[in-house]
Amino acid sequence: MTRTWFITGANRGLGRAFTTTALAQGDRVVATARDPQTMDDLRHERLTVLALDVRDRATVIDTVDTAFAKAGTIDVLVNNAGYGLVGAIEELGEAAIRDQMDTNFFGALWVSQAAAPHLRAQGHGHIVQISTVGAVGSLPLFGLYNASKWALEGFSAALADELRPFGVHVTLAQLGGFDTDWAKSSMKFGTGLPAYADLRTGILGMADYPDPAGAPETTDTAADSAEESEWVEAAPEVAAAGLLDLVNLPNPPLRKVIGPGAHQMVALALDQRRQDYLSDPEFSWPA
Ligand SMILES: NC(=O)c1ccc[n+]([C@@H]2O[C@H](COP(=O)([O-])OP(=O)(O)OC[C@H]3O[C@@H](n4cnc5c(N)ncnc54)[C@H](OP(=O)(O)O)[C@@H]3O)[C@@H](O)[C@H]2O)c1
Repeated sequence: MTRTWFITGANRGLGRAFTTTALAQGDRVVATARDPQTMDDLRHERLTVLALDVRDRATVIDTVDTAFAKAGTIDVLVNNAGYGLVGAIEELGEAAIRDQMDTNFFGALWVSQAAAPHLRAQGHGHIVQISTVGAVGSLPLFGLYNASKWALEGFSAALADELRPFGVHVTLAQLGGFDTDWAKSSMKFGTGLPAYADLRTGILGMADYPDPAGAPETTDTAADSAEESEWVEAAPEVAAAGLLDLVNLPNPPLRKVIGPGAHQMVALALDQRRQDYLSDPEFSWPA
């Protein structure tokens, strides 16, 4: 049985791997990208490319309506577009914070809102929210990225219960690290305060954030420290294989951890949270 997918941020990184993997299965894909020309090299009779910046709610609604009109039905909708904003909470300005939320949280919210009536009407479908292990735990300097994905997960868990009676599934795909532009050219930074230089060195392997004016397009950033520790991040195709396994499940779960090392990170974060509660004498773990 062939499926039709709708994928945001499909031009590079994970979104591109999801797109090529779905096409390789014989599926149809409505792929969206801010600049559709960046997908010219993927031309395929089963691929439709639409322009979409997920921050623009009116355009999101138009584009999702167009996608359903063109495709007839959409079986899997992947909210993938997103990026990481890095900086201690007091290092981040309002515009940077709003843009992070507009993209990672509101973008996925607008797409989910726009798709919900179509999915209810067709009586089936699967919304996959590309989340992160950082939506279970948190990391200093990644507070706003964490917040955007925690917010994504909060509304999506409620949405899952709302849409289940209509035969529509929602899954939070909690990904570990994958080798994309996420930790490289896509990453955005706050304005570094000297007070956090040691934290930056410890977490990012650099005492200062890169200068946006001087940084070449492909400058490695957070990836540098990962490389120094000889940690090799998995290829995006590994995430795509995990996504394919997920959408093949007849009853997909609300949460699915995907990626090497990701399960351990989630287990650690959950245990830390449990330990916090257990230190409260009024808290008792259900039998
Ligand atoms: N890579 C990882 O380790 C990892 C781990 C956990 C979760 N994730 C999540 O996975 C998703 C994809 O990231 P990636 O790793 O593939 O990074 P990437 O290689 O930097 O790709 C990010 C994609 O998001 C798109 N995008 C950004 N802002 C957008 C907007 N306003 N409207 C539409 N598209 C927009 C980009 O489009 P442009 O080309 O136009 O910028 C690009 O296609 C993100 O949500 C990320 O948070 C990644």
